[in-house]
Amino acid sequence: MGDSIGWGIVGYGWVARDYMAPGIRAAGHRLVAVSDSGQASRAAAEAEGARTHADIAGLLSEPEVEAVYVATPNHLHREAVEALAASGKAVLCEKPMAASLSDAEAMVAAVSKGGIFYGTAFDQRHHPAHRAMRDAIRQGRIGAVTTIRIVYACWLDRAWTSFAGQDNWRIDPLKAGGGALMDLAPHGIDLVDFLLDESIEDIAALTQARAQDYAVDDGALLIGRTGSGILANLHVAYNCPDALPRRRLEAIGTKGALTAIDTMGQVAGGTLSLTDGVSGQAQALSFDAEASPFLEQVRAFGSALRRPAERDAYSAERDLHTMRLLARAYEGCRTARVVED
Ligand SMILES: NC(=O)c1ccc[n+]([C@@H]2O[C@H](COP(=O)([O-])OP(=O)(O)OC[C@H]3O[C@@H](n4cnc5c(N)ncnc54)[C@H](O)[C@@H]3O)[C@@H](O)[C@H]2O)c1
Repeated sequence: MGDSIGWGIVGYGWVARDYMAPGIRAAGHRLVAVSDSGQASRAAAEAEGARTHADIAGLLSEPEVEAVYVATPNHLHREAVEALAASGKAVLCEKPMAASLSDAEAMVAAVSKGGIFYGTAFDQRHHPAHRAMRDAIRQGRIGAVTTIRIVYACWLDRAWTSFAGQDNWRIDPLKAGGGALMDLAPHGIDLVDFLLDESIEDIAALTQARAQDYAVDDGALLIGRTGSGILANLHVAYNCPDALPRRRLEAIGTKGALTAIDTMGQVAGGTLSLTDGVSGQAQALSFDAEASPFLEQVRAFGSALRRPAERDAYSAERDLHTMRLLARAYEGCRTARVVED
């Protein structure tokens, strides 16, 4: 068995078509089959050379499919992951794990029962700039880390769709499980864990419904603190025009700071710099600016599928913790009150 993995995809929409399928191709793996309830999405998959099925049973019966990427709307992740876990196929499931904490808990139970290799598709872990940032932190180049600051924002209005005529499920609280906070904050929460090798333990958030005309939050500020006391600050939004500066990741330490600009997202590139805490001078740090986080994600998951020792980098329990943090952040918003004296 070579290193070329036979992939299946459940839900061949925007992220699968524009980022995962090209990542599979660039890694030298094979997109074998797709299941999608939508005719237009199945036609797009056929154009990519995949066999298609209207429901997941057809995909499960494909022996050539070794690993399955789940990229349906959030509320449909659970049923796909449960079916795949029972079939024994490896699963890479999009973030957030699910639209609700209870669904995510059921998924982790199914993964454990099925004994399958499971990962949540936190592609940002695989951006070469973020790997370089983690290396620099580990080498002590910014001293003791005090704070991670993240801005990850975009414009997503009621009419937003990835294809003409596609359901904008992101603005439906039952399908998405929340708004900008649910969609965008998982990346930042997971990146904090990736960069520091420790999780956020305490979290609070304030959300807003300020600029858009729908039922989910269109912006949020989150503050978090890791077990050892490092602070994290995340601004996520659906109400930030795309032409504004809106993708920034910083690690601040006692001796310097690392700043990544325009690296968060699905594509390769962006910039990374190291600012010295004494001189204030900034120098560019190099990284592979051609490799997209999706390509690197496919490579890493495929390699871990073939080499079980590499699976330590994945943890369904860690991803469940991220879901608990999201639930706590929303819960705190509901109970937050302005104190008047
Ligand atoms: N990591 C990232 O950068 C990133 C980016 C975008 C989306 N995502 C995540 O990927 C997932 C999909 O997002 P999207 O923007 O591609 O959505 P989308 O709406 O573009 O695509 C969803 C696809 O699922 C299909 N579908 C719907 N119901 C189905 C069912 N019951 N069975 C099979 N297929 C079904 C639809 O026909 C469509 O083709 C979400 O969980 C989202 O949060 C992640």
